[in-house]
Amino acid sequence: MTTIAQISDLHFGRHVPAMAQAVLAELRAAAPALVAVCGDLTQTASDAEFRAVRAFLDELPAPAVVVPGNHDLPGWRVWTRFARPWRSWRRHLGTDPDGLVTWSGDGVTAVGVTTARRWGPHHDWSRGRLDARQIAAVAAAFDGAPGGDLRVLVAHHPFLLTAAGRARGLVGRSGPALRHLRGRADLLLGGHVHLAYSGLVDGLVVAQSGTAFSDRLKGEPNSFNLIEATGDRLTVTARRWSGDRFESGRHNAYIRDNHRWRTIA
Ligand SMILES: [Fe+2]
Ligand SMILES: [Fe+2]
Repeated sequence: MTTIAQISDLHFGRHVPAMAQAVLAELRAAAPALVAVCGDLTQTASDAEFRAVRAFLDELPAPAVVVPGNHDLPGWRVWTRFARPWRSWRRHLGTDPDGLVTWSGDGVTAVGVTTARRWGPHHDWSRGRLDARQIAAVAAAFDGAPGGDLRVLVAHHPFLLTAAGRARGLVGRSGPALRHLRGRADLLLGGHVHLAYSGLVDGLVVAQSGTAFSDRLKGEPNSFNLIEATGDRLTVTARRWSGDRFESGRHNAYIRDNHRWRTIA
């Protein structure tokens, strides 16, 4: 069995320090092969927040695939947002949001992709999207993975919404992305809506985790996901904050046949 931990929307600057420590303790106990960090690591993309992020990531007990969210761009510092949007990210976290982040091991190939954008052709710049170059690069990365690997895409904006999060919008170009990922990828991880759920889209499993330890709640408690994969099966379990600790909530189980998934009753 391989365990992947999924945490999202840390929002350092609006984080609850004791809960952040509780998440670290949970992750140490779960001993995942990989931690997927699905964006919005900061609240305002300040240097102080990025320093706190760096310290937190250094405490993780496993390798991490980390992608940015819309909050990791300089919000209203307009010149910086357009001219050097990822300067602080690069300085503190050392990765390039314009490229992919990849990790493989323990039967997992994970690819992280940036969906946050400096601007959008609509009033809501918190929305994200993929472009054709990114979709092709992700598809190529999965094509190069061992056939039996669990192929995991780590992003910030969602490929699946529930009624509670409908107003936030799907990741832009989700349709073309899904056409390329269908039968190629297995699991799409995201955040952004601060709600925990999982389900199927086009034969792919989508898992969304809530905000792990910030006070920016959207109607449900803080949460993170533990994903356990064994052969062609996987389960997604939300661990939710109950007031003084994390407890297991919903548990969804899936089985695949040639990278196409269905639920197990
Ligand atoms: Fe967020
Ligand atoms: Fe977000």
